[in-house]
Amino acid sequence: MDLFQLGRDDLRSLRVDAPVHRDERTGLWLVSRYADVKAVLADPKTFHPDNALTAVTPIPSPVLRTLARAGFSLPPTLANNGTDTHTGLRRLVAAFLTPSRVARMRPRIAELARERLRGLSGVVDLHPALARDLPAVVLLEVMGIRDVDVDKLKAWSTASLELFWGDVTVERQHELAGPAAEFHQWLTARIKAADPAGDDLFAALRREDVPVRDAAGLCYFLLIAGQETTTQLLCAVFDAVLRHRDLWSRLGEPGMAERCVEEVLRRDPPVNTWRRVAARDVTISGVAVPKGAQLLLMLAGTGSDPEVFDEPERLCPMRPNARKHLAFGFGRHFCLGAGLARLEAEVVLRETFDRFPNLRLASDEPPPMLGLLSFRAPLSVRVELGDQDELSAGGAGFQGLVGAGGLGQR
Ligand code: HEM
Repeated sequence: MDLFQLGRDDLRSLRVDAPVHRDERTGLWLVSRYADVKAVLADPKTFHPDNALTAVTPIPSPVLRTLARAGFSLPPTLANNGTDTHTGLRRLVAAFLTPSRVARMRPRIAELARERLRGLSGVVDLHPALARDLPAVVLLEVMGIRDVDVDKLKAWSTASLELFWGDVTVERQHELAGPAAEFHQWLTARIKAADPAGDDLFAALRREDVPVRDAAGLCYFLLIAGQETTTQLLCAVFDAVLRHRDLWSRLGEPGMAERCVEEVLRRDPPVNTWRRVAARDVTISGVAVPKGAQLLLMLAGTGSDPEVFDEPERLCPMRPNARKHLAFGFGRHFCLGAGLARLEAEVVLRETFDRFPNLRLASDEPPPMLGLLSFRAPLSVRVELGDQDELSAGGAGFQGLVGAGGLGQR
């Protein structure tokens, strides 16, 4: 079983045959059932988050030296912080992501989507055309951060994801360390230069006297996690919904885009695994797990656990417990950007449907997938855009589909 390319069948057989299983190659303890994963996330005393950002492929000394020379470090701040400082740092970031601040972004997200859709025609890949930079632009605006080269941010963040979560060779680690270090240095300089009276994230960190090293580590994680994951979610949503024409054709119904996003989060979550460390000897589902064990929580597998979700492989937007999934984690470290990610995906999906109702996948072949330990999503979504008029021209066929017995509905 390749942990970097886990498919649905792998997740099912883990859940059924080996719900708590030590992977020989990596030494990670795979925890696969919904109830076990939720219990681990709900117990921060027993299961610490310290390894959340540890490189999956150990970084060799020469590469570590390159990073150290650049002042690179990731001290405990948010996702990897099991100490008392977590609460204050979380509160500081949460102030930028309150429900009302997020809701105010709706028209801006719609505008950004429309701008990108406007110039499109023929066959296009929605990843570069729509999904790639929009979440980064939104995140920077929410955090009040201006004057950023978004292309550079994307290059820094994709390199960082691969360095920390990829199955990479030493040569590749050398290549990836450069952009990762450059990003960290850029953040450190911006934080040092921030005016504490300003309105952006850097200023807020200065005002709270967060040490520069911690502030840089926090921003490094946030500016990657806060947009790469949403790019991945957008690709996953388009790919999944377009494979279900019945769902695509109903996206104009009130609430349908939002429900489809939730189902994709449940069944195909972009953050497909997350890690914890056992702080003491513990038993999970009858299996003895030693103190210090590195746990790999199979978030993607939990969303398809039949103990919780009926017919889990089906996308059923009307499923009553759709939001019960663990795609954003659970408990103390629950994702701070869940509301923003949901909103972005819903608005972009709906805007795309409104502009190109006849859009369809250019091929039925499965897409190439991003294969990192904790991130899995289509790398491309090639579509034929169709045009706006076909819908009314083919109105009867469309009606026929909608009326075809509530496909995908429960
Ligand atoms: C589809 C998009 C996203 C997914 C699937 C996702 C998933 C996750 C997961 C699984 C965790 C770990 C939760 C745990 O340990 O219990 C997490 C933590 C976090 N996420 Fe997200 N995330 C997404 C988008 C975002 C966005 C847009 C932001 C910011 C704007 C964000 C900010 C954070 C932060 C700050 C944490 C750490 C929270 C803490 O430790 O207190 N995420 N996310």
